[in-house]
Amino acid sequence: MENINGFEIKEHEKTNRILEIKLNDEIIEKLIFPFNKFDLTALELKPFTRFTIAKSLDDVTDNKLSKLMNSIIRERSKGCFIIGPKNVSSNTNDQFLIKLSTSIAHLIGIPNHDSMSGKYYARFHIKHEDTSDSYLRKAYRNMDLHTDGTYVNEITDWLTMTKLEEKNVEGGETTMLHLDEWEYCDDLSKDPVGRQDFTWGSPKSKNIGYKVQHPVFSSDKKGRPNISYIDQFPEPKNMEQGNFLQKLSDCLEKSKNKIITKLPVGHTIVANNYFWLHGRRPFDKNQLLSRELLRIRGQFF
Ligand SMILES: [Fe+2]
Repeated sequence: MENINGFEIKEHEKTNRILEIKLNDEIIEKLIFPFNKFDLTALELKPFTRFTIAKSLDDVTDNKLSKLMNSIIRERSKGCFIIGPKNVSSNTNDQFLIKLSTSIAHLIGIPNHDSMSGKYYARFHIKHEDTSDSYLRKAYRNMDLHTDGTYVNEITDWLTMTKLEEKNVEGGETTMLHLDEWEYCDDLSKDPVGRQDFTWGSPKSKNIGYKVQHPVFSSDKKGRPNISYIDQFPEPKNMEQGNFLQKLSDCLEKSKNKIITKLPVGHTIVANNYFWLHGRRPFDKNQLLSRELLRIRGQFF
């Protein structure tokens, strides 16, 4: 474990591909004043204020945090980190956490407009009852491994997910899979069907009035595979595409190399959206279940 500039870094207990960054109390205390200068309405309506709080975060870490986060998120062998306060307290309430995630996001890039919420971020609450049309809020179903932004025109280079609240929760762990750890990557990413254009639509709640076309697999500048995939939204045009998607889905879900981890309250997971897939295990049934997550998705500078 390294302890520098007010934060600690260590490898995740289950994989050296994910790093954990803990912000010391001193850093959290130093952020309270600059964060209090803006309320959420200001952050939502005046985009430059988000950069002001992001700068505060970088300044209190001697400008080391942005360098560190950018190097992790862009590095193929890693591409993911979990960041949060070392100690969760009354200082690290939901308002504080939204500002912290906003700052983290704005040290990496520009958030996309989230059509579901109409803002640069979206909070979503999971409860016992649900009537929505997507798997996002269905507490007792597995949310299969996927990437974000599959059905929108905007480029989605990265995503952040912050746990704002969790009550009466068992299960619901975060699942993560790095493409280079996936046993079936070679087989599926080299299949010509995976390189064909697929049509991607989305249900009403997403508020996207168009469909997009793109393949499941593409290659980065060095020829390594990237993936853009979610089970619910591709609309296969024929048997070949349908069967390919079924095989892909089966091979992702049966992977033994998934990282299953509990994201603690107050913590944010930040992942490269080209070679990390994410999902969620079902929650255990509980009438009082309540969990709230904040997400921001965006592009690199
Ligand atoms: Fe997602």
